[in-house]
Order: sequence, then C-alpha cells, then structure tokens
Amino acid sequence: MNQKLSIMSSHLLVLFCFALLIFDKIPLSASFGWYTTCSNKYRCGAIEADFPFVGDGRPEGCGHPGLKLNCEKNNATIYIKGVKYQVLEVDQNAQIFKIARTDYMNGICVPQYGNTSLDPELFEYAPASGDITLLYGCSPEKNSYIGGFNCSASGKGFILPGNSTSGGAELVCRSRVIARVPDPVRNYGELGNVSVISKALAEGFPVKYKVDFEACEECKNSSGVCGYDGRLNQTTCYCQNELSLGNRTCPPTPGSGDGGGDLEVPGAKTGT
Ligand SMILES: *[C@@H]1O[C@H](CO)[C@@H](O)[C@H](O)[C@H]1NC(C)=O
Ligand SMILES: *[C@@H]1O[C@H](CO)[C@@H](O)[C@H](O)[C@H]1NC(C)=O
Ligand SMILES: *[C@@H]1O[C@H](CO)[C@@H](O)[C@H](O)[C@H]1NC(C)=O
Ligand SMILES: *[C@@H]1O[C@H](CO)[C@@H](O)[C@H](O)[C@H]1NC(C)=O
Ligand SMILES: *[C@@H]1O[C@H](CO)[C@@H](O)[C@H](O)[C@H]1NC(C)=O
Ligand SMILES: *[C@@H]1O[C@H](CO)[C@@H](O)[C@H](O)[C@H]1NC(C)=O
Ligand SMILES: *[C@@H]1O[C@H](CO)[C@@H](O)[C@H](O)[C@H]1NC(C)=O
Ligand SMILES: *[C@@H]1O[C@H](CO)[C@@H](O)[C@H](O)[C@H]1NC(C)=O
Repeated sequence: MNQKLSIMSSHLLVLFCFALLIFDKIPLSASFGWYTTCSNKYRCGAIEADFPFVGDGRPEGCGHPGLKLNCEKNNATIYIKGVKYQVLEVDQNAQIFKIARTDYMNGICVPQYGNTSLDPELFEYAPASGDITLLYGCSPEKNSYIGGFNCSASGKGFILPGNSTSGGAELVCRSRVIARVPDPVRNYGELGNVSVISKALAEGFPVKYKVDFEACEECKNSSGVCGYDGRLNQTTCYCQNELSLGNRTCPPTPGSGDGGGDLEVPGAKTGT
C-alpha cells in the first residue's frame, strides 16, 4: 500500500516536472495571453508599478528578473544580492526607486544581511547617497575612538563614512557592514548620532534601474505592452495580435477594437 502510494507519487512527480518543463516554454510560444498578463500592474500598499518590474501577478516575461517585487503585509520588498529591501517609492518616469534595508528599519543593532551592494549591470546609485560602514562587537578597552553606539546583542559599535576596508583599521571589532544613506553631506556630519543615522537608514536611498526604456516607449507607442525576453536579455513587445511576438513594435491593427480575443489572421496556422 505504502509502496503503491510512493510509486504513484513518483509518477505524479514525473508528470509534474514534465508540466513544469512545458509551462517553462510557454513564454516562448505565441499562444498565451502575455498582452493581457503583462497589462496587469503590480500593486502593494502604496506601491504601483509595471514594466520593468515583475512579481505578484506579473510573471517573469513581463519584466526584468532582477526587478522582482514581493508583497508582505502591504509592504513591497525586493532582494538585491541577498539583501532584503523595502521599496518605499517608485518613479517610473525617472526610472528611480527608493529602497531601505528591512533589517535596519527598526534600528541598527541587529543586521541580518551582508553588505549593501548592487548589481552594476542593472542598478546605479542615484545622486545624493553615500556608503557608511557600521562596525559591530568592538572591544571598548582597545578603542580610543569616542562616541559610537551600544547594542545589547552586538556590543559596542562605530559608524564610519564610506566603504573602505581599511577604515577604522585601528578599531578591534568583530564585523563590519556596509550600508547606504541618503544625503551624505548631512549624514556624514552626524555619524556620532545613532538616532540620526538610524533614521537615515530607514528613510532609504534612491537607486536608478537601467532597463532599455526607449524600446518600451516604442512598443507602447505601437499599442503594445512591454515585456522582457530572458533568453536575449532584452526588452520585448507583446501585441494584441500575438503573432507579432519577437518584434520591437506592434503592427497597426486592421479595423479598430472588435473586442474579441480570437482575431483571425491570415497565415495563423502556418509556422510552428
Ligand atoms: C511594513 O512597513 C511598516 C512601515 O514601514 C512597518 O511598520 C511594518 O512593520 C512593515 N511590515 C512588515 C511585515 O514588514
Ligand atoms: C563587507 O565588506 C567589507 C569590505 O569589503 C568586508 O570586510 C566585510 O567582511 C563585508 N561584510 C559582510 C557582512 O559581508
Ligand atoms: C555605552 O556604554 C558605555 C559603558 O556602559 C558608556 O560609558 C557609554 O556612554 C555608552 N555610550 C552610548 C553612546 O550610549
Ligand atoms: C566602495 O565605493 C567605491 C567608490 O564609491 C566603489 O567603487 C566600490 O565598489 C565600493 N565597494 C563596496 C564593497 O561597496
Ligand atoms: C542627535 O540628533 C538629534 C536631532 O538632530 C538631536 O535632537 C539629538 O540631541 C542628537 N543626539 C545626540 C546624542 O547628539
Ligand atoms: C512615442 O510617442 C510620443 C508621442 O507621440 C513621442 O513623443 C515619442 O518620441 C515616441 N517615442 C518613441 C521611442 O518612439
Ligand atoms: C543574459 O544574462 C545572463 C545573466 O546576466 C547571462 O548569463 C547570459 O549570458 C545573458 N544572455 C545573453 C544572450 O546576453
Ligand atoms: C515583425 O514585423 C515584420 C514587418 O512587420 C514582419 O514581416 C515579421 O514577420 C514580424 N516578425 C515576427 C516574429 O512576427
């Protein structure tokens, strides 16, 4: 009985994997409602976004895989290089979004992630932000530095400007975490004031995302919906007439809006 069950479930597993394989291929065939699917916006709390973002109703194929948003209790979040950020604002016209490390949103004492660092192919820091280095578990008796902060979990700490490995080399500390704050001119002057820096970390910093926006503009101008071809790593265009898949723009629609989904196009049966 148990054996039967496990044989059955292994068959199911094989079927399931097979189904996955097939579903995986769907974005590449023209027989799925990508135009409709990618018309959906991502919505979470106050955050609303479409191309080049994916997540929550916008599958990969609708945007860049590196811009996958999650939604947790009405908070939009994103992982970048293993660090989880909350998305605080999105300005799609400027292609800038504002993010803050979730581990620092409630104080600086308990970092859960490694250094803040972005994938330079996809992101660049928007102006007016700067790195800081947080040092944890420093042995106070060996440190002549004044100021710093006390944490019950991680002991004595210090905050230094910038991201240098050598900065604070004279300090004896257990770990260092590089993070990012907005307005470095103001905040570098307040590194001794933990409450100012905590606030700055929670405020988040602006990041520009670099996805070919012009291709998307062209696509939208032709009444298409922007998507992303993960194989070619480039922006693609989905049209109401799905036969145009793979083109930069959509052909002009012959006869406007007849509402139906089953548009009859000559030659629709050819070419697989
Ligand atoms: C969502 O964000 C709010 C405001 O920043 C915060 O108070 C709350 O704890 C967050 N919720 C989750 C699940 O992170
Ligand atoms: C952060 O980067 C610094 C300098 O590159 C390195 O010394 C440190 O170990 C890194 N910290 C973490 C948590 O990865
Ligand atoms: C940290 O703790 C030490 C010793 O308990 C104390 O002398 C120092 O003033 C504290 N520093 C801060 C910033 O609270
Ligand atoms: C530190 O900052 C420099 C210049 O801003 C940058 O080139 C480098 O990648 C940064 N290093 C880390 C570990 O963030
Ligand atoms: C930190 O900055 C705040 C706001 O500027 C100020 O009210 C507070 O007194 C400062 N704390 C210390 C310890 O300097
Ligand atoms: C899209 O259309 C707008 C308004 O017609 C035009 O200003 C813009 O240059 C077009 N963009 C592209 C990339 O074709
Ligand atoms: C697409 O990007 C991935 C990851 O960055 C890379 O491994 C792959 O070679 C790229 N493919 C093309 C066709 O550029
Ligand atoms: C792209 O558009 C051209 C010209 O409109 C057309 O000849 C071609 O078949 C289209 N390609 C695809 C993949 O639909």
